[in-house]
Amino acid sequence: MRYDAVLLTVLVLIGLTLPAHSQEPQVNLEKGKAIYQTHCVGCHGILGKGDGPEAANLIVPPTNFHRTQSRAKTEMDLRGAIIWGLAFSPMHGWWGKLSGEDMRSVTAYIRQLAPYQPSTP
Ligand code: HEC
Repeated sequence: MRYDAVLLTVLVLIGLTLPAHSQEPQVNLEKGKAIYQTHCVGCHGILGKGDGPEAANLIVPPTNFHRTQSRAKTEMDLRGAIIWGLAFSPMHGWWGKLSGEDMRSVTAYIRQLAPYQPSTP
């Protein structure tokens, strides 16, 4: 009888933790940093200030992620821009070029450079 109770508890615990873990998005900050330094620094700059070496040649300036407006964006907002790109700008979408995990990781890295700060009305 006691054995049954233990078994049941174990099964319930597995049931509770397993789905939560399998749905947890994979984020790898080290990888995010590597992706950023390979694909994004040219425009957005090493610290994300929008001052990369290619920025001078662009009509639309690359986003400075430290701006108040940019820091107020959620990871979802940023990821949208990364996935789809922004219209009429050199910021093209990375869909098909980076994996979903890569895009999450690079977004997390941007948020490490310039932490999220909700705008105060
Ligand atoms: C060719 C230059 C260029 C490259 C390379 C580039 N970007 Fe951009 N990015 C831009 C420009 C320009 C904008 C701003 C567009 C606008 O304001 O319309 C922008 C905007 C963004 C935004 C929106 C920010 C906000 O606050 O709305 C994100 C997020 C972003 N870039 C992420 C990335 C990531 C991640 C990479 C690398 C995988 C990358 N960018 C590579 C030029 C670039």
